[in-house]
Amino acid sequence: MPGLTAPSDYVEEPPRHPALKINSKEPFNAEPHRSALVTSYITPVEFFYKRNHGPIPKVEDLSRYSVSICGLVNKPIQISMADIWALPKYNVTATLQCAGNRRTAMSMVRKVRGVGWGISALGNATWGGAKLSDVLELVGIPKLSSVSSLGGKHVEFVSVDRCKEEKGGPYTASIPLKQATDPDADVLLAYEMNGEILNRDHGYPLRVVVPGVIGARSVKWLDSINIKEEECQGFFTQKDYKMFPPTVDWDNIDWSTRRPQMDFPVQSAICTLEDVDVIKEGKARIAGYALSGGGRGIERVDISVDGGKTWVEARRYQKNSIPYVSDGPRSDKWAWVLFEATLDIPANAEIVAKAVDSAANVQPEKVEDIWNLRGILNTSWHRIKIQNSLSVGRSKL
Ligand code: MTE
Repeated sequence: MPGLTAPSDYVEEPPRHPALKINSKEPFNAEPHRSALVTSYITPVEFFYKRNHGPIPKVEDLSRYSVSICGLVNKPIQISMADIWALPKYNVTATLQCAGNRRTAMSMVRKVRGVGWGISALGNATWGGAKLSDVLELVGIPKLSSVSSLGGKHVEFVSVDRCKEEKGGPYTASIPLKQATDPDADVLLAYEMNGEILNRDHGYPLRVVVPGVIGARSVKWLDSINIKEEECQGFFTQKDYKMFPPTVDWDNIDWSTRRPQMDFPVQSAICTLEDVDVIKEGKARIAGYALSGGGRGIERVDISVDGGKTWVEARRYQKNSIPYVSDGPRSDKWAWVLFEATLDIPANAEIVAKAVDSAANVQPEKVEDIWNLRGILNTSWHRIKIQNSLSVGRSKL
């Protein structure tokens, strides 16, 4: 691992914004307050959630840093940052969402294992870097390959961080070669985030960004890339981040029965109110985010103020001055969509958001139906309970 080292403890962690809500200190896992998510389409780096499994690695000397590309390739190579910078640079706006987003709410119906997250384990950034499809051409793998000449079907990413789940070994993940070599899949080796050099928390000097896929596959602090016949056999691919039915619990789990989760399903949440909140009766602006995996856009966001009996459609938007169209060429297909609606809020309202994606997938109503022991992908309707609304005359508003 030339140039990049992984400390074995937490004494050299980078500085972080004090407003982040810390869900675990070591390793550092934190999310912003939900209201910060809807103040801008692009999430500022300091308010972007941070999800780690070990201490944050450090680059001792960037000129010595390189990534090896090996495995089922004719000629393994080491590429330096200069080699990466020399490739065409792409800026891709993509939302990274942790599979554990909204886990705490799932745990409230039946306890699940994992770091507790509210609704802010996601963020939308513009990632700058080289396309993985261009990088793989350097080892002779052409664009749009499902199988390489030596039989490689998966691209494994290996980091340097020390994770207890890997008994002190590095974090790993893989994606299919087909996705890695597809320029339209926009998989990046990113060295910039929102126009700035990637910071240590988010993977400096180089990370993978796999748009439309759970955050777990976007490996930070990249050390090597392996072309393999089989998918990654690491903990985070085989013994974590898999979706099980509600009938499976820790006493009857067989991890091999399920495939590693890749795309995430349609999701939305309200960010202008707490899950239990107090507001006055009358008009209120309800705003939040909606997103779907696999590059699917958001076709609709429905809001209810009566617990889901009746619905109104919210306005969706991404960038100022460009109307959002779910499959429009000027919309960011990998990015979230913000929504807003100004509604009459009755006393003791139950405000609900549910989104529909461009394949007409709809968020499930009840968390119970998608409960799973690891608490991933809680995409159930987001409900806000308004309590003790203060009755005030409309004339006073
Ligand atoms: N890469 C490494 N090397 N180590 C990690 O712990 N966490 C993964 C992914 N990549 C992780 C990693 C998970 S689970 C998520 S959700 C995202 O990084 C979080 O990225 P962020 O901290 O930049 O928001």
